[in-house]
Amino acid sequence: MPIVEKNETYIGRVVDLTHEGHGVVKIDRYPIFVPQALTDETIRYKVIKVNKKYGFGKLVDVIEESENRVTPPCDYYQKCGGCQLQHLSYEAQLEMKREQVVNLFHRKGKMTDVPIHPTVGMAEPWHYRNKTQIPVGATKEGAVQMGFYRQRSHDIIDMDECLIQDDIQNQIMREIKQLVQQYGISTYNEQRHQGLLRHIVIRLGHFTNEVMVIFVVNGKKLPHADAIVETLTQTFPAIKSIKVNVHREKSNVIMGTTSHTLYGKDYIEDTLNDIHFEISDLSFYQINVTQTQKLYNIAVDYAQLTGNEVVLDAYCGIGTIALSMTDKAKHVYGVEVVPEAIEDAKRNAENNGYDNTTFVAGPAEKVILDWQRAGIQPDVVTVDPPRKGCDPTFIETLKALAPERIVYVSCNPSTQLRDIQLLEDQYRVVEITPVDMFPHTTHVETVALLERR
Ligand SMILES: C[S@@+](CC[C@H](N)C(=O)[O-])C[C@H]1O[C@@H](n2cnc3c(N)ncnc32)[C@H](O)[C@@H]1O
Repeated sequence: MPIVEKNETYIGRVVDLTHEGHGVVKIDRYPIFVPQALTDETIRYKVIKVNKKYGFGKLVDVIEESENRVTPPCDYYQKCGGCQLQHLSYEAQLEMKREQVVNLFHRKGKMTDVPIHPTVGMAEPWHYRNKTQIPVGATKEGAVQMGFYRQRSHDIIDMDECLIQDDIQNQIMREIKQLVQQYGISTYNEQRHQGLLRHIVIRLGHFTNEVMVIFVVNGKKLPHADAIVETLTQTFPAIKSIKVNVHREKSNVIMGTTSHTLYGKDYIEDTLNDIHFEISDLSFYQINVTQTQKLYNIAVDYAQLTGNEVVLDAYCGIGTIALSMTDKAKHVYGVEVVPEAIEDAKRNAENNGYDNTTFVAGPAEKVILDWQRAGIQPDVVTVDPPRKGCDPTFIETLKALAPERIVYVSCNPSTQLRDIQLLEDQYRVVEITPVDMFPHTTHVETVALLERR
């Protein structure tokens, strides 16, 4: 290892960008990761951490700028941990996300002949989030703080506006902050596990403009609920549902498992590719609807349905992928672990007039076994698991069911590669398309088509 001094300032050329958005400089062959530095830049940086195999640096200034560097429009960008790539042009972000998938599948996975298409981007990559989860806290002096966490910490950066969420969410966030202060509602202290109000969750139906507001509390009730509901609903007629979510556990999970409705409906509505959906508070719903439509169109295209196929949609949420395929398939089965989401999926099928669907609540790895025992033979299986990917027993049963095609949608290409490698002896990856669901962050969504060998 070369001599690299902590707290020393160095000048170096950035040779690469990691999937976390950190520039890589090298002293001899020792890599140092510098957040906010870009490939091909010459930078001055201070070494802040020296590990055995790599170090971390802090950008002091950029001596020679990359042509891809842009000025971040957000006032909170330097502090907030929500976005990591606002200083990189959007075109370059899309290319970087594709590179990440190429590195995984071509280099790590040695699947060099798999076509990886350009990342499908957004025309207007701002104000895209339809769900915001805002931590609530207070300063020592008692001023209410609402915003987002500082990078790699749980310190709240108090903010009035976030450029990736819809503007109505910003307006509602500011109003709630004022109401919490006015009524002296106690705010949650994570270290002491004391105080009432933990998070405000605001969900928006992108095409219906219906809003749901959820107060996540370390208790049973929201004090001054009537007055708060009245002010919010009079100021924002778009609010169609206000809920209290009870969350008394000491945990990083944002919402608890029970909630009650203070105002309006138990759900909000939205439309995706002309299919109407009801979404309740505990159900997963993709956060970028414009891009979700493109993602689902690719998934439907990859499924190559003719009207005769039996389709299994695993990790189906409220049935959005399943119902995008129902009018092109003989029968679609969906499985999802959250019972409320399955209730939504059943209602959504009925409301849209589909009678060729079956939705079951339970872990995919268990329910797929039940389906195998019942003799169900799928032609196409779609999977869209959470970041940790599929359970290995699910993959085993999937192989035994031997569908012609698997369409694998993923928000974490590393676990997607791991799962695909388990399938590789029986399935060939035909192509992969990255879709940018989360502009200005380092997250990448991919959809892969696998065909039985
Ligand atoms: C990335 S979301 C996808 C949902 C849906 N396909 C969509 O596009 O809206 C993953 C879903 O998997 C569900 N899930 C997590 N673990 C599961 C498991 N073991 N079995 C079934 N579903 C699971 C989550 O509740 C969540 O709804």
